[in-house]
Amino acid sequence: MKHAIVFGGTGMLAGATKWLIETTDHISIIGRNKHKLEQLYSDHDNSDLRLVTLDYKDNEALRHFMRQTIQTYGPIDLVVSWIHSVAPDAIPIILDELTHQEHQWRFVHIKGSSHDLSSILAEIPVPRNCRYCDVQLGFKVEANVSRWLTHKEISNGVISAIHYDKKKTVVGILYPWSKRP
Ligand SMILES: NC(=O)c1ccc[n+]([C@@H]2O[C@H](COP(=O)([O-])OP(=O)(O)OC[C@H]3O[C@@H](n4cnc5c(N)ncnc54)[C@H](OP(=O)(O)O)[C@@H]3O)[C@@H](O)[C@H]2O)c1
Repeated sequence: MKHAIVFGGTGMLAGATKWLIETTDHISIIGRNKHKLEQLYSDHDNSDLRLVTLDYKDNEALRHFMRQTIQTYGPIDLVVSWIHSVAPDAIPIILDELTHQEHQWRFVHIKGSSHDLSSILAEIPVPRNCRYCDVQLGFKVEANVSRWLTHKEISNGVISAIHYDKKKTVVGILYPWSKRP
């Protein structure tokens, strides 16, 4: 992949973000906290890594970033989005800014366990040039005890979804819902 952007890649997704840093030519990682972003640096980075301090609730700043990164680094191949519902405009803005890109791109949409997939798909008009891939986070049941996913399991699930270009991924299980931790 030539050009990728990761929103929300410094927390539970840090493992997946580090993998992407090693496998893309140019990558921008978005977060508010500069210190957390800087933890992603490593000595063996192959890619051109850009750490961007940005609040994705700031619609104008988000639009500006999208336009500027496309203008400077060319068309986008991949957007990984772990964006909380406190920013309802963020995903529509990202999709809108990429609607007219001729180049095909992939949108990997990561969602928490209780996310209603059917409603979100109905809400988001996915552009024709976009391959939409969703990754829903579930939970695990081991020896009849349920627990939430570890950061490693979450990151590995996201890596697998990107690597195998899966349209739909559930990390762990979602049912029976009554068994969730
Ligand atoms: N089913 C499951 O197992 C499941 C599902 C969901 C969550 N969880 C757990 O819940 C924990 C908490 O989840 P979390 O999403 O709060 O933590 P997280 O993934 O550890 O952190 C959220 C990420 O989004 C970024 N972010 C948040 N608000 C932002 C904003 N307004 N603008 C730009 N970037 C923003 C954060 O960076 P900045 O803070 O620097 O902005 C960070 O990179 C996770 O660590 C995970 O273990 C589990």
